This record gives sequence, structure tokens and C-alpha cells, in this order.
Amino acid sequence: MTLLLNTTDIAKLVAAQGMPVVLGQLAQRIEQDFRRWSEFDKSARVASHSTHGVIELMPIADDRMYSFKYVNGHPKNTAEGMPTVMAFGVLAEVSSGRPLLISELTVTTALRTAATSVVAARALARPQPRSMALIGNGAQSEFQALAFHHLLGVTEIHAYDIDRAASAKLVRNLAGVPGLTVRVFDSTAAAVHGVDIVTTVTADKNYATILTPEMVEPGMHINAVGGDCPGKTELHPDVLRRSSVFVEYEPQSRIEGDVQQMPADFPVTELWRVLDQRAAGRRNPMEVTVFDSVGFALEDYSALNYLWAGAQRRGLGRRVELVAQPANPKDLLGHITPAPAAISSSAAMAIAGRPRRQSAHPWPRSSAP
Ligand SMILES: NC(=O)c1ccc[n+]([C@@H]2O[C@H](COP(=O)([O-])OP(=O)(O)OC[C@H]3O[C@@H](n4cnc5c(N)ncnc54)[C@H](O)[C@@H]3O)[C@@H](O)[C@H]2O)c1
Repeated sequence: MTLLLNTTDIAKLVAAQGMPVVLGQLAQRIEQDFRRWSEFDKSARVASHSTHGVIELMPIADDRMYSFKYVNGHPKNTAEGMPTVMAFGVLAEVSSGRPLLISELTVTTALRTAATSVVAARALARPQPRSMALIGNGAQSEFQALAFHHLLGVTEIHAYDIDRAASAKLVRNLAGVPGLTVRVFDSTAAAVHGVDIVTTVTADKNYATILTPEMVEPGMHINAVGGDCPGKTELHPDVLRRSSVFVEYEPQSRIEGDVQQMPADFPVTELWRVLDQRAAGRRNPMEVTVFDSVGFALEDYSALNYLWAGAQRRGLGRRVELVAQPANPKDLLGHITPAPAAISSSAAMAIAGRPRRQSAHPWPRSSAP
């Protein structure tokens, strides 16, 4: 039987562990998995684009576990009462192909994206950052704020969104977090002035330029989360030109990240190489660093394994017969049909090999399903 986790189960896990612990454990797992990069069978995600948005499948495996995520990106959805990003995922054992877990990943994507942002910022931002601008105050934004506060010590958030109601929601949601101050600004330029880290997490199916070169100050770390699809960017190309740029999986990021705007030989460094100390991260306090995040399947692999372990330990979720479990694994038909005695004599004769007459109605007629 496959374990099914829904959003309520994820909420229970977060309530039991506490948000700081969940984010910290996820970040630790993601970092550990990035450091065993060569053990994974990796590929860029499979994307189906339309004028409305994108639907993607994100598979990955090591020699023990296989996972995939189904995820969409439809910036217009919120105007129709649906999230921009919705997701679910599957974890299966490689030795048999048996699906162990099917889980919601909408909330979990927000958790793992924020955790990944912190893993990158720990390696790339100046030590002890205190302030972060948060441009785009939608579904992902509070998770980013909480992860940077709890795991990296950020105490001041400068928020900006073209939708004032989104910023007001962010302020309400973070009001009770001790030691975290949120101030709302009237423009991106005002919000980013003087901060250590800039997180851009906007949604617009467009070559947007949320950050332009004159807004970028020496030593800033830019955590660019929202440019994650062909034709959907957040950074002016000159911001990239004057920065050291880090990506998750280069073949995917060249297609989907802000670096899609740059020539194919524009230098980027894969994050795992910095985490594994094979490449330098930040070289000096004045350098501008960019984490051009698009979301990579490995982060969901880490999250699904985390949920699998946590749910079993806490008895969360319910078992469902997602795949058939016939008593005789070679008798799949017997698993869904009555015992042989109940089979009609004409069917029995057909089974015995008597030539069948051509039927006037070759397909069974039925009412609509
Ligand atoms: N890199 C990753 O791993 C990853 C993971 C999840 C989501 N994302 C991306 O992050 C983005 C945000 O996702 P979400 O779920 O929070 O979406 P959302 O629709 O809930 O929120 C996006 C917010 O951006 C605001 N916005 C749009 N244009 C803006 C602009 N020019 N200036 C300021 N604010 C602006 C919108 O008003 C909205 O409040 C999406 O583009 C999504 O695809 C990336």
C-alpha cells in the first residue's frame, strides 16, 4: 500500500516539529543531497508550455529512491482564486519500482524552496546578514522570510509588491514572529536600498526587470526565485553581468533561469560545487552574488524523503491501494473480476479457443461514464 499525505498531514508535521525545525531539517537534507551530486541520475524537467502557463514533471533518482514532482506555474491563477503554483509528488523504491509515497507538494514546495534559498545564501551571502528585501509578497514569500529569519538570523524584512493587499497579508502572517520586523515600501528601489539580501519572488509570465543595475549595491546577495521559465525573468541582464552567478543544474537553468537572457558561454557555477568545496562561493565582501534559482528535482527528492521518514515516525497519512496488489502477481484480471465459476459459458468457450463470430456490436455498449 502507498502512503498518501495531504496538506493537513503537512500542517500536522509542521505543528509537531515547529517551523524553524522543519525548515532547518529540510535545509540540512537538501545540502547533504547536493553534496552527493554525482550519485543522482539527473535531467532537466519536462515542461509543457501554453499561453496560460506551464505544467512540468521533475524526475530524479539515486540507486535507492526515485522521485518526481508534478508542478504548474500559472501567474494568472490568483485572479481566479487558485494558487500560481500547485504540486504533488511521488517517491518510489528503485529496487522494485513500488510507489511508497504520494504527497501534496504545494506547501512543501514553498518549504523546500525557502530552505534551498537559505542553503545557497549561507554559502554566498556576506556572513551574518540582518536585512532582506522581499519583492513579491505572494504564496512563497512568508516561507522565504521565515527561513531567512530562523536559519540565517535575518531580523528585518523590507517588503514590496505591486499588490498592496499581498503585502498587508505578509505583514499579518508574520506579525507574531518574535524578533522579526516587517516594513512595507512603495517601490522595489526603496525596499532594496541598504539591505544585505534581495529576494525576488514575483510571478509574471514576462521578461520582467524587477531588479535593474542602479538598485544593486556592492556586497548584496540576490536570491532570484521567480524567474524560472522560458520567457519569465526578473533580473536585468546587466545585473547578471556585474555579478557572480550560481545555479542549481546548469542544463535546466540555461533554459529556465534568469541566465536564459545571457549567451551560452556566460559563466555560471553550480551550487553543489560550492557546497562540496570544489568551487569558490563569495570571494570578497564587495562582490555581488546571484543565486538564479529555478527549482531542481533534487530539492523535491530531499523533501519527499523527509516527509516519508517524518510521516512514518508520527503515524501521519493513510494507506491507499494506488497500485494493484493481486494475491497472485501474475493474475491481474483475477484481481478485478469475480471467481471463475461466475464467468459465462460463452466467455468460457472463447477462453477455450473456439473461433469467435464477428459481432454486430464489437464494443460493449454502455451509458456514458
Ligand atoms: N525557484 C523555485 O524553486 C520556485 C519555487 C516556487 C515558486 N517559484 C516562482 O516564484 C514566484 C512566486 O510564486 P508564488 O507562489 O509566491 O506566486 P504568487 O502569485 O502567489 O505571488 C507572486 C506575487 O508577485 C507579485 N508581483 C508580480 N509582479 C510584480 C512586480 N513587478 N513587482 C512586485 N511584485 C510583483 C504579485 O502581485 C504576487 O503577489 C513564481 O514565479 C513561481 O513560479 C519558484
